[in-house]
Amino acid sequence: MAFRKALKRTAIVGGGAVAAVFGLSQLIEYRKTQAQLAHVAAEAELKVPFADELPSRQAQLAALQNTEEFDVLVVGGGATGAGCALDAVTRNLKTALVERSDFSSGTSSRSTKLIHGGVRYLQKAIMKLDYEQYMMVKEALHERANLLEIAPHLSAPLPIMLPVYKWWQLPYYWAGIKMYDLVAGIQCLKSSYVLSKTKALELFPMLKKDKLVGAIVYYDGQHNDARMNMAIGLTAARYGAAVANYTEVVRLLKTNDPLTGKERVCGARCRDVITGQEFDVKAKCVINATGPFTDSLRKMDNEETQNICQPSAGVHIVIPGYYSPDNMGLLDPATSDGRVIFFLPWEKMTIAGTTDTPTNVTAHPIPGEDDINFILNEVRNYLSPDVEVRRGDVLAAWSGIRPLVTDPSSKDTQSICRNHIVSISDTGLVTIAGGKWTTYRSMAEETLDAAVKAHNLSSEPCKTVGLMLEGGKGWTPTLYIRLVQDYGLENEVAQHLAATYGSKAFDVAKMAQVTGQRWPIVGKRLYLVIILYLIYGPLQCKCSLLYFI
Ligand SMILES: Cc1cc2nc3c(=O)[nH]c(=O)nc-3n(C[C@H](O)[C@H](O)[C@H](O)COP(=O)(O)OP(=O)(O)OC[C@H]3O[C@@H](n4cnc5c(N)ncnc54)[C@H](O)[C@@H]3O)c2cc1C
Ligand SMILES: *[C@@H]1O[C@H](CO)[C@@H](O)[C@H](O)[C@H]1NC(C)=O
Ligand SMILES: *[C@@H]1O[C@H](CO)[C@@H](O)[C@H](O)[C@H]1NC(C)=O
Ligand SMILES: *[C@@H]1O[C@H](CO)[C@@H](O)[C@H](O)[C@H]1NC(C)=O
Ligand SMILES: *[C@@H]1O[C@H](CO)[C@@H](O)[C@H](O)[C@H]1NC(C)=O
Repeated sequence: MAFRKALKRTAIVGGGAVAAVFGLSQLIEYRKTQAQLAHVAAEAELKVPFADELPSRQAQLAALQNTEEFDVLVVGGGATGAGCALDAVTRNLKTALVERSDFSSGTSSRSTKLIHGGVRYLQKAIMKLDYEQYMMVKEALHERANLLEIAPHLSAPLPIMLPVYKWWQLPYYWAGIKMYDLVAGIQCLKSSYVLSKTKALELFPMLKKDKLVGAIVYYDGQHNDARMNMAIGLTAARYGAAVANYTEVVRLLKTNDPLTGKERVCGARCRDVITGQEFDVKAKCVINATGPFTDSLRKMDNEETQNICQPSAGVHIVIPGYYSPDNMGLLDPATSDGRVIFFLPWEKMTIAGTTDTPTNVTAHPIPGEDDINFILNEVRNYLSPDVEVRRGDVLAAWSGIRPLVTDPSSKDTQSICRNHIVSISDTGLVTIAGGKWTTYRSMAEETLDAAVKAHNLSSEPCKTVGLMLEGGKGWTPTLYIRLVQDYGLENEVAQHLAATYGSKAFDVAKMAQVTGQRWPIVGKRLYLVIILYLIYGPLQCKCSLLYFI
């Protein structure tokens, strides 16, 4: 009797659990479709005209000079500035964006290229029961899902392996990573899983075998940051923003407000860096999105605040693809001295990083030889002794300045916890600083909300969730096949174009057709030069020898 009762109870509990899991998964599916429908609705709602033909830089400069007054002028064409411009223009605000160099020439092209919620932040949030940290991760995970959706050609989920070297770490990491999946909820890219030592080495053969216990694999997004930045800027231009590169703000224009009698910012003096010509751009609201954040800004808000920002340089190096598998990254979130070490596959190469050294803010930070050697040494620690790590293998290196370093021991304002600050000066200048690439969109939304409120702009609500970026619409994972078929491109070239330009790759392929040339021609020309050199070189050599004789 007792046995049957127990069995019955087990059946009820087990059945209940299965039903609950099933119910939950159904709910998640339902919410997924609802979310997708909401995106479609958002795009249908957008009343801003969309240009099929992108205006030239010349036309954009003319628009900057001839428009009587913009609603919003954004200074800085990094991820944050471009995001603000897109947010503003799709709210039906008359928008301008100026960048003094190339778009994304600053920090935005020097990142680790991950679209991530921050596993480490989550760990901190849980260990310290910090709700703000938790919300920051949740928001970033939401933005991660959005970015992967609106620019599918430039971004993709990437499996990342955490090697485990101590038994006790396995359940600890596993629980942490599962939490990460759970916080992402329906926006979890793919579920994380545990690997045995053998399986881990099968997937990542270059890994050092010594002491390896196993590994945990989780998913984050990866993107081409510079291209993504361009896509955001170009989309803003398509919706009508006047967007110009090589245009620098030399000073802000100020006027006395007739209503309040106070001085306020009413535009900026810009300089076309190429011609040197200067002109004024008038705007109701100027947004400062010029990047690396300094304490001067926080001091503006409150003289008493301590310096919590120690700008630090992060160096990345590019090494050949044979240092990592094609589609698996490696990350050690907790080296003994608390740094993050990673190898990530990128464009058939491997990116390794990173350093964390105090620096002074400069426009074009350059990685030092010691930084490069430091990373190479770290790389050696993770790889099997068979793999010889050589200085000569370093193909490229770059340095980016981390704008904001929060001191975890100092209890600070909410916005610092969230890694970025939106502030409005007495003269009405809106500054957005800090944050991370992944959250550029929500930062832009917050900035524009603040700007609209402060300047009483007549604006529609934010429309950028689910708004497709340049090249994203009409892109499919098999688009490159059509490029091969229709334009006779090499497979690899077609894949590169599809992953770089998305659905606009056809326009690029068409351009190449006009002259009747195909890309590999570069290769053929090179052969020709080599052959000519082989023939001509010795001849010339002999001639000069003759001359000397
Ligand atoms: C080493 C490192 C790794 C990172 N990795 C990641 C990552 O993996 N994932 C992630 O989400 N985030 C990452 N980040 C953070 C992310 O890269 C930054 O938060 C983001 O790129 C900041 O963009 P931004 O537009 O604010 O600044 P910037 O990209 O620096 O843009 C500012 C722009 O303003 C322009 N400008 C300045 N002055 C003027 C002027 N007077 N007139 C006109 N233009 C002007 C500059 O030329 C520049 O292009 C990383 C950061 C660093 C340093
Ligand atoms: C940036 O400037 C270059 C040089 O003037 C120009 O050819 C290019 O079209 C510009 N890009 C954009 C997006 O305006
Ligand atoms: C713009 O913001 C940066 C920080 O991002 C700050 O250093 C700079 O002083 C600001 N510019 C102006 C004109 O206030
Ligand atoms: C920053 O600049 C100051 C003054 O120019 C210099 O003394 C200091 O060593 C620099 N710091 C770094 C980390 O380069
Ligand atoms: C804001 O603008 C509206 C019209 O667009 C106007 O009616 C209102 O008085 C303005 N408010 C302020 C505070 O300027």
